[in-house]
Amino acid sequence: MAKVLISYFSKSGNTKKMAESVAEGVASLGDVDVELKKVQETTIDDLRAADGIIIGSPTYFGVMADEVKVLMDKSIQCYGKLIGKVGGAFSSSGMIGGGNETTILSILQGLLIHGMIVQGVQKGNHYGPVSVGAPNEEACKECAQYGRMVGKLAKRLASQK
Ligand SMILES: Cc1cc2nc3c(=O)[nH]c(=O)nc-3n(C[C@H](O)[C@H](O)[C@H](O)COP(=O)(O)O)c2cc1C
Repeated sequence: MAKVLISYFSKSGNTKKMAESVAEGVASLGDVDVELKKVQETTIDDLRAADGIIIGSPTYFGVMADEVKVLMDKSIQCYGKLIGKVGGAFSSSGMIGGGNETTILSILQGLLIHGMIVQGVQKGNHYGPVSVGAPNEEACKECAQYGRMVGKLAKRLASQK
């Protein structure tokens, strides 16, 4: 069974709420193992075991939060082992134009450097779900749709291993 890991950091709960919606979207596919974890508790084994890895971070000065970068840097331990897995990212910011897209891109850069495959979004937030402050119903819906899309691709690729 395909496995999708959603790893997130959240101080005041906004990114956590997004992460939960992403997880719900993945789970709605059925027949997929969904794991929702804080970045601080995410291990190298978790990264290696997943077919899809979706990372969420609040926007801190236009990039990922330090706690997320710690996981990214730690992931050098499995460099070369994540090739061909599916990746994605989402972010919560304080304001529109506050850098949520650049935060997502900062995470995706790391995933691409690992050789991962990133699913873009044609309709909606193109680089991945964003929320300004607490995610409203629309943002949660986008998160769930994104989880479903990334999960679907991870399932398809895992079935061809
Ligand atoms: C250290 C720090 C830096 C931040 N930098 C930005 C920023 O550059 N742009 C922005 O829009 N919001 C910024 N914010 C606001 C957070 O991105 C926002 O409150 C977010 O929703 C918090 O997510 P969380 O509830 O998951 O912790 C910053 C907050 C902190 C604590």
